[in-house]
Amino acid sequence: MQSFLQFNPTRLWFGQDQVEQLQQELGTNGKRVLLVYGGGSIKKNGVYDAVMEQLTHMQAEVFEMSGVEPNPRLNTVRKGIDICRDKQIELILAVGGGSVIDCVKAISVGVYYDGDVWDIVTRKAVPHKALPFGTVLTLAATGSEMNNISVITHWEKNEKRGWSSPFAYPAFSILDPTYTYSVPMDQTVYGIVDMMSHVLEQYFHLTENTPMIDRFMESVLLTVIEAAPKLLADLNSYEHRATIMYAGTTAFNGLLSSGTDGGDWASHQIEHGLSAVYDIPHGGGLGIVFPNWMKHCAEEDPSRMKKLAMAVFGIDPSDKMDHEIALEGIDALRSFWNSLGAPNRLGDYGIDDSRIEELVHKSFMKDKVGQYKMMTRETVRDILIRSLA
Ligand code: NZQ
Ligand code: ZN
Repeated sequence: MQSFLQFNPTRLWFGQDQVEQLQQELGTNGKRVLLVYGGGSIKKNGVYDAVMEQLTHMQAEVFEMSGVEPNPRLNTVRKGIDICRDKQIELILAVGGGSVIDCVKAISVGVYYDGDVWDIVTRKAVPHKALPFGTVLTLAATGSEMNNISVITHWEKNEKRGWSSPFAYPAFSILDPTYTYSVPMDQTVYGIVDMMSHVLEQYFHLTENTPMIDRFMESVLLTVIEAAPKLLADLNSYEHRATIMYAGTTAFNGLLSSGTDGGDWASHQIEHGLSAVYDIPHGGGLGIVFPNWMKHCAEEDPSRMKKLAMAVFGIDPSDKMDHEIALEGIDALRSFWNSLGAPNRLGDYGIDDSRIEELVHKSFMKDKVGQYKMMTRETVRDILIRSLA
């Protein structure tokens, strides 16, 4: 196990009607508020009204910015920065899924940066200050509500980039599972695939002697595997929405990397290349790429896949070679995601091999891809080709 610091400053309010906690959060953080949201789902499902009720009660001065895209775009971040400066905003409130939250993270650091915020996203500049922001989460998926990561797309360049900063943690996040009742089936599935992928990325680490954190990860995966089909059979179940929502946060709030090297993350980089070029949903892309990355890696060293197969998918190891056990586990993961209705080949999104070199290139937006297994352009191409059909 490696030495580590466990630290997370986000105050997490979890449960029904926790939106009322906005009153004390506003008291602490200021009353000139920029409310940021996406394409309007919060107006249809009542979340906008619930938030506004609290803001009105606190006599907050509210400004609004709507229209944050899924896979949020740089131009929208720039627009938010201008509003914050112009209106002298004291607190930004992100109400939505990972895209809205990621956009707000970039706005909050961009306000205090003199140059173009893309410098921060591309890690050419390091933020030293941020406007405080909080979130009201409406979709269980990314973990952005309790981490310091944000992913922004420069659409004109077809680049999708992740960045992080100690200033990018939400000051607070409100998680009311009832706010996710209206998430449609497909987005619910993408969220489940995404949170499982976050655990898997961290599971594929190279650090020895990490039994405690490995079992934490296996427990999150087992919990999601148990709850997900029940949730899809009853999208309005409080219990299952709550389980999945908490799993999504736990999957990617730092806890599961305690004492490890942090894991692999090549599948995420390959997926970010895919959605930078084709604008597909993040969880949909991961559902296609991840099992193919696992198959690719298992050919060289099946040990970690074997462990996963036995601990999470209950594969019986008797009379089998390591790579057979590993492959059965990967097939079990693939079948599980298929059973939820996740896409399993790029053809499902109408993607063929015509832009494959561009996709390889877009996967290498950081200096390295992968850690459990370092990727080359050839290995990324191999995974993409496996993912086509
Ligand atoms: O825009 P609205 O109208 O709100 O609709 C959204 C959007 O169309 C809808 N939605 C959200 N809550 C809803 C709802 N519809 C009905 N009822 C509700 N309660 O769902 C659609 C997708 O929303 P989005 O925020 O894009 O989804 P998600 O939370 O999966 O976020 C995806 C983005 O996060 C990035 C992804 O790359 C992608 O850009 N990621 C962020 C990470 C992070 N910050 O830690 C890590 C992830 O690996 C990921 O890369
Ligand atoms: Zn993800």
